Amino acid sequence: MLEVKGVSKHFGGVKALNNVSMNLQAGEVLALAGDNGAGKSTLIKIISGVHAPDTGSLAYQDQPLHANSPLQARNLGIETIYQDLALADNLDVGANIFLGREPMKSFLGMTQIIDRQRMLKESREVLHSLDIEIPESSLEQPVRNLSGGQRQAIAISRAIYWNAKLLIMDEPTAALGVPEQRKVLELIDKLRTQKIGIIFISHNLNDIFAASDRILILRQGRVVGESKISETSREKVVSQMVSG
Ligand SMILES: Nc1ncnc2c1ncn2[C@@H]1O[C@H](COP(=O)(O)OP(=O)(O)O)[C@@H](O)[C@H]1O
Ligand SMILES: [Mg+2]
Repeated sequence: MLEVKGVSKHFGGVKALNNVSMNLQAGEVLALAGDNGAGKSTLIKIISGVHAPDTGSLAYQDQPLHANSPLQARNLGIETIYQDLALADNLDVGANIFLGREPMKSFLGMTQIIDRQRMLKESREVLHSLDIEIPESSLEQPVRNLSGGQRQAIAISRAIYWNAKLLIMDEPTAALGVPEQRKVLELIDKLRTQKIGIIFISHNLNDIFAASDRILILRQGRVVGESKISETSREKVVSQMVSG
């Protein structure tokens, strides 16, 4: 699904990425680990069209990938969820799933209005398809009233509704309590069965070991480790992160 070959990127004198290669299959969950400043965010920003690489190349679904903006990447099915989730707190679930892309219907044959019923119905359907439980009474509440895990689930649902094939998540469980973390990990598992490719950044090795198939470890802009989760250990990963 995705192949990154020999990508380098510098910012002024800082070499944020140095000859990084990686790949991802559909239905695979890849964790990206590394200390602060290792280059994790730069790598996902290159995949999602925020930055262009200085050198190296990317291919997505067997085509060269030259996304010049996050919008272009999104149109190709590459969705990125950052920590702030980009939800509109004062709007309800449906409005958030359709944010900026609201369906319209004609009103009395005279004018176009937002089709709220359709937003609600389709939101219910996408939540249901992902086994996300949000009570009916909460669907029409401002999302600020929902829990952190529910908000994360809404951001993920929005990406899936809009046909994400490759989902990139930056610290999806960082702000959550333990039961909610578990729910998000279950949701990642569900996405895997739907053949979505997932890249997620995490500092939490428990999450990484619970949710991913493979791990890529960066240190000072270089890949210093890559392994199937079943073939490595927390101790090994930590040692690669600090002295790989
Ligand atoms: N937009 C930028 N301008 C200047 N330096 C940057 C920029 N983005 C990242 N860097 C630098 O690149 C290096 C890698 O950063 P980053 O990719 O954010 O690491 P990580 O996400 O692993 O913490 C760091 O030294 C960081 O300061
Ligand atoms: Mg970062």
